[in-house]
Amino acid sequence: MKMSISLKVNDEEYQLEVEPQELLLDVIRHRLNLTGTKRGCDTGDCGACTVIMDGRAVNSCLILAVEADKKEIITIEGLSKTGQLHPLQKSFVEHGAIQCGFCSPGMIMSAKALLDENPHPSDEEIRKAIAGNLCRCTGYAKIIEAIKSLCT
Ligand code: FES
Ligand code: FES
Repeated sequence: MKMSISLKVNDEEYQLEVEPQELLLDVIRHRLNLTGTKRGCDTGDCGACTVIMDGRAVNSCLILAVEADKKEIITIEGLSKTGQLHPLQKSFVEHGAIQCGFCSPGMIMSAKALLDENPHPSDEEIRKAIAGNLCRCTGYAKIIEAIKSLCT
């Protein structure tokens, strides 16, 4: 039996009929076509599917669409709606913090949630904020530099 939900995603309102077991990640990628949010592990381990929900970075593969009813969600597409890269995106590019790029949307959303709440985090706080985001390419140092460069 389908259920009705309403979502605000990147400032746009959506009314959707979803299956009870449908994941927020699938709604974002397949119903809204916001494919910047990636599917990695599907088990909450890699962080590739990270979005911001009501101000918190969350793994969208671990959230049922019905649990997101009436929530406000920001995906990576929501950071550059004007066609300009968000400062975090620019910084990742400038610091070489993106290689294959598969982890980057999730990593950037975790960094954004951190900086929105704490604009001057310590290195330790940055590491903690991205601890759930795995990167196979960069070795993390450049990612931490990219985030830190926005904290001055
Ligand atoms: S796909 Fe969600 S944490 Fe890996
Ligand atoms: S840049 Fe390739 S996984 Fe992070």
